[in-house]
Amino acid sequence: MCMLAAIIALAVVFVRFATVEAGQVRSYSSNVPVRRSSYLVEFHDDAHDGHYHAVRSHGGVTVDHHYDGVFRGMAVSTSASVNPEHLAGYGGVKHVWPNRIHRLSTRASKFNATSQVLHEKTGLIQTVNELGLNGSGVKIGVIDSGVDYMHPDLGGCWKTEGCPWQYGVDLVGDHSTANPNPTPMDCIGHGTHVSGIIMASGTQVRGVAPKATMGMYRVFPCSDSEGGANSDDSVIIKAMELALKDGMDVVSMSLGTTGEWAESRSAVAAANLVAKGVIVVAASGNDGESGLLTSNSPAIGKGVISVGSVNNWSYKAPYIEVNSPSAGTLRVLKVYNPTDLNNFVFEAPIPLVVSNDVAGSNEGCNPPSTDISGKIALVKRGTCTFGIKAAIAQEAGAEGLLVYDFKAGAPETPSFGNNTIPATMISLTDGNMLAALAAKETLTLTSTNDKFATFEMEDGGRVTGFSSYGPTPELDLGVDISAPGGSIWSTYLRNNGSYASMSGTSMAAPYVAGAVALIKQANPGLLPEQVRNILSATAKPVADPKTGQKYTPFQSGSGLINIYDAAKSRATIDPPTLALNDTVFGPFTGVIHRLAGDNVRWASRTLKVKNTDTTRGMWISMDHAAADSVTMFNQNGTVVDATYGTSGETIPTWPASTKPVAGNTLPKVTSLDSNQYIGPGLTGLVTVFITAPSGLNEADRWFYGGYLDFTMRWDGESTQSSYVVPYGGYNGDYSKINVLAPASTGLPAFVDDDGNVVSDVSAALAAKKKTHLAYFMNMPSRLVTVNLVDAAGRFAGYLPHGYNANAVRTLPAYYSYTTAALNGTAYMDKDLAKEATVALGKYHVRLSALRLFGNPKKSSDFEVWESGGFVIGGA
Ligand SMILES: *[C@@H]1O[C@H](CO)[C@@H](O)[C@H](O)[C@H]1NC(C)=O
Ligand SMILES: *[C@@H]1O[C@H](CO)[C@@H](O)[C@H](O)[C@H]1NC(C)=O
Ligand SMILES: *[C@@H]1O[C@H](CO)[C@@H](O)[C@H](O)[C@H]1NC(C)=O
Ligand SMILES: *[C@@H]1O[C@H](CO)[C@@H](O)[C@H](O)[C@H]1NC(C)=O
Ligand SMILES: *[C@@H]1O[C@H](CO)[C@@H](O)[C@H](O)[C@H]1NC(C)=O
Ligand SMILES: *[C@@H]1O[C@H](CO)[C@@H](O)[C@H](O)[C@H]1NC(C)=O
Ligand SMILES: *[C@@H]1O[C@H](CO)[C@@H](O)[C@H](O)[C@H]1NC(C)=O
Repeated sequence: MCMLAAIIALAVVFVRFATVEAGQVRSYSSNVPVRRSSYLVEFHDDAHDGHYHAVRSHGGVTVDHHYDGVFRGMAVSTSASVNPEHLAGYGGVKHVWPNRIHRLSTRASKFNATSQVLHEKTGLIQTVNELGLNGSGVKIGVIDSGVDYMHPDLGGCWKTEGCPWQYGVDLVGDHSTANPNPTPMDCIGHGTHVSGIIMASGTQVRGVAPKATMGMYRVFPCSDSEGGANSDDSVIIKAMELALKDGMDVVSMSLGTTGEWAESRSAVAAANLVAKGVIVVAASGNDGESGLLTSNSPAIGKGVISVGSVNNWSYKAPYIEVNSPSAGTLRVLKVYNPTDLNNFVFEAPIPLVVSNDVAGSNEGCNPPSTDISGKIALVKRGTCTFGIKAAIAQEAGAEGLLVYDFKAGAPETPSFGNNTIPATMISLTDGNMLAALAAKETLTLTSTNDKFATFEMEDGGRVTGFSSYGPTPELDLGVDISAPGGSIWSTYLRNNGSYASMSGTSMAAPYVAGAVALIKQANPGLLPEQVRNILSATAKPVADPKTGQKYTPFQSGSGLINIYDAAKSRATIDPPTLALNDTVFGPFTGVIHRLAGDNVRWASRTLKVKNTDTTRGMWISMDHAAADSVTMFNQNGTVVDATYGTSGETIPTWPASTKPVAGNTLPKVTSLDSNQYIGPGLTGLVTVFITAPSGLNEADRWFYGGYLDFTMRWDGESTQSSYVVPYGGYNGDYSKINVLAPASTGLPAFVDDDGNVVSDVSAALAAKKKTHLAYFMNMPSRLVTVNLVDAAGRFAGYLPHGYNANAVRTLPAYYSYTTAALNGTAYMDKDLAKEATVALGKYHVRLSALRLFGNPKKSSDFEVWESGGFVIGGA
């Protein structure tokens, strides 16, 4: 009852919020990439043609897309003179949104993993062998960079009879949206790789659903005006609408923007697509290095299946052969990229030496003290960029550069920039071994790209470090399930080698899309919500070998999918995941006979367990497995570095070691009714009481979680099936977390364009030196404002980028801070449209950030920072 009331109250808040914001322009903070002069104009439901016409005929406005399926309105490009506020002022207009840029959720990684193992672990092989499923009759729409449909493993055809590709369109062209091509031919390779994971049928690559009917909606050009292969909300939403019109059963999106709120345009559009009956699968993102709260939009959209990545178990890769007098011939796996400028190929033996520098480091960031000329220099990753290491080695006359990783696991593909010296990366384990041998003897190596060996990976089957973490800003888990996304061998552009290995949640999402097609083929009547629940309940949580616990559901959802168990599922559990939020704090009173008294955080939830077998009764029992608790904070309240640990961990986890762990540092689960008999076709209720770890320091800000492991047995059968429900919560008062980084970080501060602190702001402004307020968002915030305050304490205008609703975290892997310019211009309105020149006078800057779950109307819910005074307009 309590929960129902909370949900209704929330809905009301949102409705009211929307009304208050009506007809207004939204803006984003400076670290959120948006298209210039491009907007999404959202209309009210009752807007009519006249309203649309008014916006269309505004001078300088060009309509790029109209929408009526998953978004109400249109995308427009504007000339520089068009003020978005004028568009927002027309009747019928609800919001004018900036057009956010999206990236592909991929990482270069160039191993050739062995698919047999992979497909066994996900239950695909058993599904094919025993159930004969192949995706036939199911339509899968892919929103991506296009596809090299002429690839023989992908059909080698376009929309001809019997061709898998029956739907799709190019929405962007190669370089300009004005010139789409007649077909969505791929020029990047990403969409071709993704398509192969879904439906290839060749000798090298076998997709999950090779007989599915396919659609490709191309939204990434070869390169765009921003100089990269970017897409944006306007075109991705158009693609979703076309997929809906074409009747796609499943839509797969390996793209996104990071750390978003569920209100972001692409998340809302994806949720609308789900509401219309389409099963939507999306990559959770590759920003795990930036820590928690990095799940992507559209993956976080309501009802969308958000997919994280696990590593492959073994890899096939070209190798470096090292000759050691004492250890004999060694094979070392190397990162291999067929399109690399820096191809590491040495047919004839060449000496390998550790490159030490004057500072005694072997990271290769300073000129070497070792003679590396004519040799291969072995250096460790870290301190400076790969490009600098290559340039320094090249300058010192080295013939090649071998970098070894500073963290355990499979090395990712490094970028050595424009240096032409052959260079590649190997693992930490191999690097340490070679460094130790090179210290005592002379090593030589050879390396080719056409001889392959299979390497077992020490991190096989583990959650991939780069896989984004939840929760969402409002404490939803953010990730539903995981699939293989680390080093996946799949189809690639024919003129770029035809096959390649790539890594990313980009690779995990299409694996799930293929799995969904098989499940739909087996059970055509399933609704999106049911498919999501079944996939989640039948997934297998992944254990973290470092801690002995399971990985946090905030990163891996309920675990690695199991297609066979999903296709054969005979039970559903609703809800499929428990987002515990920040829980009640007080004596634990939920269960009679349990010792109360201790103040702990706890939550109780009731699950509906349905026996979908209408012929046999079902016996259920429940166990509990705790997961790692995770935080992204140091004890002093700063966010941990983007590359946190030396053994592959991206954020601190608890327990950090496998030594005996005190019980009160793990969450606990109690239930009085988890052993039950549920008759054929009936539903039983199971209430669980979950206590958060009381032994973890609240100041460390832990996010805890675990898994409710259900075992089901049907009458007259001896075999059992396992079903799982992940849960996760915040172990503290979420609304009290400071959203701004602590002052000890030196931020906020005034900085110049190069990031140097400006100590005399008045002098810098008088000299017309570019000055910015730099600040760091530890947490997302519903509202961040940066404004000037005059000498009398009055509001004197927002700075550029000084008003942003639904602000995202500053991601440490990409930004050292977020900025607002102090340049004499201020805006008197929150649309940042009424530009004003600031009058001569004395001012200070006020930065206000709403705490999580805070009320924007309550000033005490804001965290506020004020600068010292300075003069604007002084001579
Ligand atoms: C990748 O693996 C496939 C199948 O095992 C094999 O045929 C192919 O030659 C391998 N290619 C590379 C580059 O590893
Ligand atoms: C794992 O690696 C194998 C061997 O290269 C590859 O065939 C397979 O597709 C990979 N699977 C995953 C999930 O990466
Ligand atoms: C794919 O599955 C369908 C339905 O089970 C079956 O009729 C068809 O023969 C299968 N196709 C292939 C090539 O296996
Ligand atoms: C890869 O393909 C692109 C065109 O799609 C071509 O320009 C480029 O030269 C190719 N690279 C290699 C290494 O073949
Ligand atoms: C958690 O609680 C807050 C405030 O009570 C609410 O706004 C938020 O939506 C809740 N999150 C979830 C996932 O239920
Ligand atoms: C906070 O603590 C971390 C880890 O102990 C340390 O590296 C960092 O320098 C500290 N930062 C500040 C601003 O005190
Ligand atoms: C200050 O910056 C804003 C936003 O970048 C710009 O519109 C404005 O013209 C600038 N003002 C001056 C005086 O340079």
